[in-house]
Amino acid sequence: MVIRRIEAGNFRSYDELVFEPVAGLNLVVGKNASGKTNLLEAIYLCAYGKGFRGADADLLKRGRERAHVEANFRVGGGVDRTVRVELRRRTKEIAVGNKRLAKRQDLVGQFPVVLSGAWDFDIAAGDPKARRKYLDGLLGLLSPAYLATLRDYLRALKQRNLLLTEMREADPARLREKIEPWTESLIGYGSLLCARREAIVGELRERVRRYYTTIAGADEGVDLEYVPNVRAVEGSYADGLRRRFGELFEKERRRGLTLAGPHLDELLIQVGGVELRRFGSRGEQKTAVLALRLAQVEMIAEKRGERPVLLLDDVFSDLDIRRAERVLRAVGDLQVVATSAEEERVREVKGGVEGIVGLFRVEKGAGVQEISL
Ligand SMILES: Nc1ncnc2c1ncn2[C@@H]1O[C@H](COP(=O)(O)OP(=O)(O)OP(=O)(O)O)[C@@H](O)[C@H]1O
Ligand SMILES: [Mg+2]
Repeated sequence: MVIRRIEAGNFRSYDELVFEPVAGLNLVVGKNASGKTNLLEAIYLCAYGKGFRGADADLLKRGRERAHVEANFRVGGGVDRTVRVELRRRTKEIAVGNKRLAKRQDLVGQFPVVLSGAWDFDIAAGDPKARRKYLDGLLGLLSPAYLATLRDYLRALKQRNLLLTEMREADPARLREKIEPWTESLIGYGSLLCARREAIVGELRERVRRYYTTIAGADEGVDLEYVPNVRAVEGSYADGLRRRFGELFEKERRRGLTLAGPHLDELLIQVGGVELRRFGSRGEQKTAVLALRLAQVEMIAEKRGERPVLLLDDVFSDLDIRRAERVLRAVGDLQVVATSAEEERVREVKGGVEGIVGLFRVEKGAGVQEISL
């Protein structure tokens, strides 16, 4: 897939925005607060139906009552599709072509876009939540059914937790009986989530290692490992979860909380045999994050037959010049929109890149202009 054109009005810092990216690498430069991240958010909005910072109402330019963003995508086979998002203070309408969507979820995955930015440091350095979100994001773009299962799981978890808190003082046998259907839901949905996560990590491992090696210029021994909160018993996650909930009942009753399940899973990332989160340098962490995102793009392209567009915010920060160059080479002939506040650096780095390259400048109040290379 490629983005042919983005057009927006009253979106974030923009009165009007028109961006016609090239089919290859788009380098977007601009000073701090000029609107580079906002531009990526406009694209993201047309792929996911929401922004990636704050609430829908924050997307309206301050003081404006309505905003819109429209994206023209060319999907595999050369078909042009238009996504239009209309925003008001309290409502949002999403349309693909002239068909209005009933819910945001119907949009997700139709137009694959993968985003990476400074917040992705959480994947490398933060708590396990960010790493689960990475896996869920990948699995969600591969199959909407996964996202539906995840939602069902989280809903059951919430209900079970509610009962565990409300019935703290109740008779244990009665509590057990009440939570039983929710426990069964967690086992059913949870075992599906675990199996999918285990399989995907198996498929990611070599790809992440390859991209990491490409960007770092050396094989530093990156390894991924899925560490489920509850291990499978003889290959069955359902059996593992059922056994664990059996063991934990008394403790869960006392704590008033569900204490096991895939909402507590971990994705362990190691570089050179040590945990990236604890020992990795900033540059190593950034390299790993980019390798994870590139591997994600590759998997989506292979399994869906549609290559995602890659959005890289502040792409060169924390990377030395060699790694920065190698990132741009590693993206191959994908369509990429990469931003940076360091124009000098961008000009230096792009010397080493082949293929279709467009250079753009964002200025506050003046929108996005193509500039000469
Ligand atoms: N809803 C809004 N209405 C008006 N202005 C907004 C809105 N949301 C964000 N902004 C403004 O947009 C600017 C930030 O834009 P953005 O985050 O895209 O900058 P950037 O070019 O990515 O900067 P940096 O290089 O620092 O990352 C800020 O000045 C902010 O006040
Ligand atoms: Mg920014």
